[in-house]
Amino acid sequence: MWAIDNMLSVKHLLGIKELNAADIALIFKTADNFKQVLQRPIKKVPSLRDTTVANVFFENSTRTRLSFELAEKRLGADVVNFSASGSSVSKGETLVDTVKNILAMKVDMVVMRHSASGAPWFLANHIDASIVNAGDGTNEHPTQALLDAYSMQEQVGSLKGKHVTLIGDIMHSRVALSNIYCLTKLGAKVTVAGPPTLIPKHIESLGVRVEYNLRKALEWCDVANILRIQLERQNKPLFSTLREYALYYGVNKTMLDSIAKDIVIMHPGPINRGVEVNSDVADSKQSIILEQVENGVAIRMAVIYLLSGKREIE
Ligand code: CP
Repeated sequence: MWAIDNMLSVKHLLGIKELNAADIALIFKTADNFKQVLQRPIKKVPSLRDTTVANVFFENSTRTRLSFELAEKRLGADVVNFSASGSSVSKGETLVDTVKNILAMKVDMVVMRHSASGAPWFLANHIDASIVNAGDGTNEHPTQALLDAYSMQEQVGSLKGKHVTLIGDIMHSRVALSNIYCLTKLGAKVTVAGPPTLIPKHIESLGVRVEYNLRKALEWCDVANILRIQLERQNKPLFSTLREYALYYGVNKTMLDSIAKDIVIMHPGPINRGVEVNSDVADSKQSIILEQVENGVAIRMAVIYLLSGKREIE
């Protein structure tokens, strides 16, 4: 058993924007403890056996949804899963009514993914239970950024002064925005790289550099977090063809091998192989993509545990 000596400054995890560096450090320290639990033959603690969590997903997910469910079950919580498809949302039920009905069944915490940016903040004004944002539109994906930064730290140590490049569809990526908030709060230097049409205007105001040349962006960094092209969020074409995108911004082994340092390669998934990254990079020794997924469970255990207000881990 070990004790938590501090508390988060927030009631919900809506975005990284609302966290401070001490919150992030506390989540990482708690995740270290849960990583040890996950190495045991029985990968469970009974700490949340009196807690029920609802995973409410209005948008598709593989990693985030499974990872939250595993995290909750490994904390001993009762878990219910809701998908918009096949639900009464198709009959016109609103977000607030849907969640209030779930909470009426004595649910303590809500993990929510929604295609509308800001949906978790809206919900937080209408319910008392703690909310964890599992990705809202093009806005934030806080637990992804936490697991990304945690995984980076495992590879390169403290992120203070380290160079991280985010490559790809920065405009539509909630992972990009949450990574920028998280990495800059931890003292990392951040560059965003991609075609001009996929980089928001004035993004430098968030304290990041912009680089349009992929080779230069890779030569500069210690860690490259490669992001998916989000065609489903692009209303009109923002580059000519996927083939041309891959030619100029796809990370391939020939280019990586020609750079005189071992860059850590990351991707939050799902991967478009042959578009933003080639298989010879995604599956290489430099890639920590599956370590990111593994760390996601410990990070989500830490977030849920800390938001529950419990102080001792059994
Ligand atoms: N990284 C991520 O959010 O993946 P899913 O959409 O599969 O959850």
